[in-house]
Amino acid sequence: YHVDWDASAAEKGGYDYFMLKEIAEQPRAIADTLLGRVAVDGTLTLDEMRLAPEELRQISKIVIVACGSSYHAGLIAKYAIEHWCRIPCEVEVASEFRYRDPILDPQTLVIAISQSGESMDTLMAVRYAREQQSRVLAICNVNGSTIPRESDGVLYTHAGPEVGVAATKTFLTQLVACYLVGLYLAQVRGLKFGDEINAIIGQLARMPEQVEKVLNTVQPVRDLARSLAEAKTVLFLGRHVGYPVAMEGALKLKELAYMHAEAFAAGELKHGPIALIEDGLPVVVVVPSREGRSVLHDKIVSNIQEIRARGARTIVIAEEGDESVRPYSDTLIEIPAVPTLLQPLVATVPLQVFACELALAKGNDVDQPRNLAKSVTVE
Ligand code: G6P
Repeated sequence: YHVDWDASAAEKGGYDYFMLKEIAEQPRAIADTLLGRVAVDGTLTLDEMRLAPEELRQISKIVIVACGSSYHAGLIAKYAIEHWCRIPCEVEVASEFRYRDPILDPQTLVIAISQSGESMDTLMAVRYAREQQSRVLAICNVNGSTIPRESDGVLYTHAGPEVGVAATKTFLTQLVACYLVGLYLAQVRGLKFGDEINAIIGQLARMPEQVEKVLNTVQPVRDLARSLAEAKTVLFLGRHVGYPVAMEGALKLKELAYMHAEAFAAGELKHGPIALIEDGLPVVVVVPSREGRSVLHDKIVSNIQEIRARGARTIVIAEEGDESVRPYSDTLIEIPAVPTLLQPLVATVPLQVFACELALAKGNDVDQPRNLAKSVTVE
């Protein structure tokens, strides 16, 4: 992948780095990915997927394969697909998948998520799945790339070209594509809780403005990141869909700031990681939405109290108006209240900005982090 850096200065559109531009483009990228696919009455049109509704009704299992950020999108998709479609869904890093003799058959739908459509690990998983007679759907951002060409069907994300090596707008649009697939499967399979599906589709259509809101209020995250440039490690905690969001936040920090960062499921804290907590250790906590799952919400509030009592510096990402977390938050970052399953679209944005800003404070090139490539075409 070749980019002429001098000539491309103008393409940054006033931003110092492509990554900053691409973060800012996210509302637009989400809107473009939804465009033409959601009718006013909530009906989804995904004919381009090239998988007939009849085939989709036969599916008994879904397996998602991907690498890096795309894998995190897959982890989030599992929560949504199993909840909406009641189809068992596994998610696996592509490099592990085909080497463990996975159980696949013609009723298995394999979803390969790849921004570039060229990751060799994901491509090999696709080939393996097709050899086993499974149907393969690609979720991809690059038109006509290898993975969609070798799959049965494709749903393109319309994020536009992404130059920054660390995925940002393509990650959010992968989430949108995964939601669309899940909601479409629920629709074609005629599941009975149609009201919930329609409500979610309505909320999904509003996500560009919700992400815009986050971008407009994210300045305190920049100041915070600069104050943490000397930290040795940052921990991330989340539950439910907030867990893969925490993983994505940790990955961004490793990729861009070259810092040790690790994500834990908040419920696992007491089974080991809490031993890491010491005075001043920054811990980012993604608080679940309060919608319908107040149990999880309350549990994570207890986790925040526990780690703070042991000296952690708590950086809390929570819904606006969630006063219950304020007393235990050294920094409180507010995001709009949206349905639980869609929360990753808004919760990931402050984490992208955090990692990017911290990396810039350290003088790193956020567009081309050391040792990384935008797409890895070797196994
Ligand atoms: C590389 C990139 C990551 C990316 C991963 C998967 O490792 O550095 O940012 O998430 O590949 O890429 P893909 O194009 O398959 O989504």
